[in-house]
Amino acid sequence: MNYNKKTVKDVDVKGKKVLLRCDFNVPMAKDGSGVITDDKRIRAALPTIQYLLDQGAAVIACSHMGKPEPSFEKWAKKQAEKGKDPASLTKEKWEKSLEALCMEPVAKRLGELLGRDVVLASDVVGPDAQAKAAALQSGEIMLLQNTRFEKGETKNDPELAKAMADLAGSDGVYVSDAFGAVHRAHASTAGVAAYLPAVSGFLIQKELDFIGGALANPKRPLVAILGGAKVSSKIGVINNLLEIADTIIIGGGMSYTFAKAQGGTVGDSLLESDWLDYCNEMIAKAGEKGVKLLLPVDTVIADKFAPDADSKVVPNGQIPDGWQGLDIGPETVKLYCGAVKDAGTVIWNGPMGVFEFEKFAVGTKAVAEALSETDAITIIGGGDSAAAVQQLGYAEKMTHISTGGGASLEFMEGKELPGVACLLDK
Ligand code: 3PG
Repeated sequence: MNYNKKTVKDVDVKGKKVLLRCDFNVPMAKDGSGVITDDKRIRAALPTIQYLLDQGAAVIACSHMGKPEPSFEKWAKKQAEKGKDPASLTKEKWEKSLEALCMEPVAKRLGELLGRDVVLASDVVGPDAQAKAAALQSGEIMLLQNTRFEKGETKNDPELAKAMADLAGSDGVYVSDAFGAVHRAHASTAGVAAYLPAVSGFLIQKELDFIGGALANPKRPLVAILGGAKVSSKIGVINNLLEIADTIIIGGGMSYTFAKAQGGTVGDSLLESDWLDYCNEMIAKAGEKGVKLLLPVDTVIADKFAPDADSKVVPNGQIPDGWQGLDIGPETVKLYCGAVKDAGTVIWNGPMGVFEFEKFAVGTKAVAEALSETDAITIIGGGDSAAAVQQLGYAEKMTHISTGGGASLEFMEGKELPGVACLLDK
């Protein structure tokens, strides 16, 4: 895939309307108060927004939020499948579920960060959005409602894409800065590029430079640290990195499937029995390719999945029944941190243990600390790894923390990203 895409700097936006796709899918407080608990994604879009406004564009920003179900019937069906009593599934409850995913809090926060008004449309391509887009002047910004309130969004419906493009008018421009959503071929992330000249914003450019650069032309040795709960969710990444990396480090819940595959006992640890053969194949393949594959040598086990569980350290693959592995052990920490020390580039995706529990955050913290001290280029995939690095206080020390969870994963898998592929080549 060609990542050399035109950017906002390659087009003239002065006096034009720009449809700007952002990823404002931010975490919200669970109490329904509308409080944004982490505004990183909104902040990450500011350089592009500010640039466009300074250039004299009128900015029509849009984003999805969560996974709303725009049809009441489908929503009720899904809820019933989840075991909810069908009699309790009223239209009122469905509307409430949509309300919780409205863009009001984002418009408010964006306005605070920009220090200017952000006009919010009450729909995506309906009469309110059309009227507000038509009235929008150079240097002004508006935000559309949640793009997933439209049925056609996730289906990449060309009519919806065209209606969104029409908001920007005949000489409009499409700018995508929604790196977190570039793995989705949706109307607002990809379809719209068929109707407007399409370029990337600074965030996408930065993500492509860092992640794409590390994959295509890394400063070696390239060390990939892969963790998280499931082997099955990292298959594509392991396969791809086996072709690229010098060292692959395995930690987190997925390491117990590797331990079992090698004949160890894993007690009540996370295990994906269907992937045992795959793990052995990967170990063999790493050997053939001369890739160093590091597996834990010891592990911290717990008598229950709880922050106050009793714990002890045992050799890897020797976990008794009634116990489960929740973190890498101290010898593994030494091994992994040593491998990171001499790296030229480190890519990290997935925590080493249950870092949400302080007692089992030691391995993840040690790796984060090692990354913060190395001279290597350090790239952190979005999602859990980004959250871990942030929660443990090492965010500032990393070269790049991706704003994309699924997107950075698919990027590292070497897959084509529809939200990037649709942009104009340089
Ligand atoms: C994310 O949070 O990873 C992006 O916003 C994409 O969201 P999605 O998984 O709902 O498409």
